[in-house]
Amino acid sequence: MTDLPNSSLHLETLAVHAGRTPDPTTGAIAAPIHLSTTFARDDQGEYSRGFVYSRLDNPNRRTLEGVLAQLEGGTAAAAFSSGTAATHAALQAIGGPGRILAPRDCYHGTRLVMTDTLAPWGLEVTFVDMDNLAAVAAAAMDPTAAPVALIWVETPSNPLLKVTDIVAIAAIARDVGALLVCDNTWATPLLQRPLALGADLVVHSTTKYLGGHGDVLGGAVIGQGDHPAFGRVRQIQQVAGAVPSPFDCWLLLRSLQTLPLRMRAHCDNARYLARHWAAHPAVERVYYPGLATHPGCVVAARQMSDFGGMLSIAVRGDRAAAQAVVTHTQLFGRATSLGGTESLIEHRASLEGPNSTTPENLLRVSVGLERMEDLAADLDRALSLALQS
Ligand SMILES: Cc1ncc(COP(=O)(O)O)c(C=O)c1O
Repeated sequence: MTDLPNSSLHLETLAVHAGRTPDPTTGAIAAPIHLSTTFARDDQGEYSRGFVYSRLDNPNRRTLEGVLAQLEGGTAAAAFSSGTAATHAALQAIGGPGRILAPRDCYHGTRLVMTDTLAPWGLEVTFVDMDNLAAVAAAAMDPTAAPVALIWVETPSNPLLKVTDIVAIAAIARDVGALLVCDNTWATPLLQRPLALGADLVVHSTTKYLGGHGDVLGGAVIGQGDHPAFGRVRQIQQVAGAVPSPFDCWLLLRSLQTLPLRMRAHCDNARYLARHWAAHPAVERVYYPGLATHPGCVVAARQMSDFGGMLSIAVRGDRAAAQAVVTHTQLFGRATSLGGTESLIEHRASLEGPNSTTPENLLRVSVGLERMEDLAADLDRALSLALQS
């Protein structure tokens, strides 16, 4: 059952069946967890069973990577111990010093990898508005700057929910001979498949929707196994060694079975809440690509099958007003991260620190799987209590 034809099966079916072969020795349907860090040679002194040492490869990780590759429509995946480790590897796939283009509003941790960790090693970053195609083309073809080796796309973006046209950026990347990498964490392969739209590599923080329960940290890079950039990612994974534990791989595989169902519920809830708060007098603006008023709505509708479970709201008022709202919620947890069963709310500018460009009155909401009316009532109550105080 590991070699399911991903062209003919729907993602809902793949999510349940991919990688689920009964254990050959016991018949166990749920896979065993292989904790062994090292593997024995056979009688001929060879590693004919395919495993040598767990940093290089492990049965649970191999199964996970196979399933992730099938879900994204790639042929290979490399699993990492966090989304940030996956980001590092994908950026290092350019092989050495070079210039990249990145979205001005990319996830702030990704920005830190670029500017603080990799810049001293020769990575030069030009930040652009990825939803402005003319600006991206101009930056990519700037005759006064170094050639562009990689374009980084994150769509929808964190936390402004900007939408990038992946097909259009892929054309620019092809024109200048750059790699296109898409962080697909927020959309998941259920809603958006960047490889089919022209990306060379897809990056995930599997900590979010793919894990889905807030209990496993992980990341992945997915692509075509014979692409040189993927080869470099695999090498970085095995040599640098930021790999997930067998238990984390097992947890993630279990979660992937319910990803399609969870995503449907996340999307339905977020749509309801976005419409609800768009009409709320205490809300200045709702950032959600499924609203017709959102500048990226048309592109999102074209390249996504639904609009996801994330939204941000700008509260009418200042930073203090937004911070007051989150002190009054009862169902929405006050925590960072996203993509889990429970709804979370966060004053993003506080987390991002003094260099944040996020509006001061913005609250980012990860819409969970609770009943949508209960979520609406919880934040409505918090909004009115904050306005009274
Ligand atoms: C879009 C995006 N990419 C990458 C990451 C980093 O993932 P991790 O926290 O698993 O390192 C995050 C984390 O919030 C994210 O939102």
